[in-house]
Amino acid sequence: MTGFPAVRLRRLRRSPASRALVRETRLSPDRFVAPFFVRRGRGVREAIGSLPGVDRLSPDEAVAAGQELRSLGVPAVILFGIPERKDENGSEAWDDAGAVQETVRALKQSVPGLLVMTDVCLDEYTSHGHCGIVRDGEVDNDATLPLLAKAAVSHARAGADVVAPSDMMDGRVSAIRGALDAESLPGVAILAYSAKSASAFYGPFREAAGSAPKFGDRRGYQMDGANRREAMREIALDLEEGADAVMVKPALAYLDVIHEARGRFDAPIAAYNVSGEYAMVKAAAGNGWIDERRIVLEILTGIVRAGADFVLTYHARDAARWLAEGGLEA
Ligand code: PBG
Repeated sequence: MTGFPAVRLRRLRRSPASRALVRETRLSPDRFVAPFFVRRGRGVREAIGSLPGVDRLSPDEAVAAGQELRSLGVPAVILFGIPERKDENGSEAWDDAGAVQETVRALKQSVPGLLVMTDVCLDEYTSHGHCGIVRDGEVDNDATLPLLAKAAVSHARAGADVVAPSDMMDGRVSAIRGALDAESLPGVAILAYSAKSASAFYGPFREAAGSAPKFGDRRGYQMDGANRREAMREIALDLEEGADAVMVKPALAYLDVIHEARGRFDAPIAAYNVSGEYAMVKAAAGNGWIDERRIVLEILTGIVRAGADFVLTYHARDAARWLAEGGLEA
């Protein structure tokens, strides 16, 4: 006998217990990475207007936040630096006493079980807001590579476990790998922002980091979001250059890219549930138009179902709490 009435898919949906047994995608806090915006100082916790619930933190506050995440089962954080001064070359990016470097040291000392990743890019640090050196009105790819490598080495020397270049220069992964190895840091991993599209979804982040470009836009180096095949080439190249894990960013409008990457590559795949995706949820939830808890767990489940091994998300702490309280069935 085939088909209805012998077959009734509703039978296994009747109770939370049977739904739990047959659930294909299981969300757990150990898939989350929490982004931190860090600045120098003590006792600093500055609210960010466009990202309600996310603060700019000084190293000591980052330690407290890291301890809380660790206790909730979140294994990792990724640090973004807010510099004290910006210049043409973004030189604070490789200042060994910079906010990222100080915070890495503090976290590795006080929350040893937490994996510390750092975003490697120049846009927060340059006066013009671009991700590399500007020459004749254009971001100069090859002149930028050694600066990215210097920043990555500085983060790694401070103790970062993983460096994550987000600049989208060609060749940055091999430049960074070469520099790390030359500095006897072969154990530091590279998470490459490989398929990163030029996206309107980064708006709130740029307010948080003060990193909006002062002229032009990032379409000359970030990908055209229309291109899935090109995304596969970016990922393949980063893996050839020595990336240990690759990323698709943003996540929600790019689930097909995550899915195809999962089918083609055996390397770990990360997805970045970016600031605009978070801010939209917060705005609608704040108006009472959606149920934030259920929406967030549904979004994160969708990103993992598409094929991501781990997800960078501003909802990491809340989602971890909600999962502890029963997740989607609560
Ligand atoms: C660049 C960088 C950006 C994000 C992560 N790394 C901004 C950009 O490319 O303009 C965006 C993350 C987000 O929107 O949450 N350093």
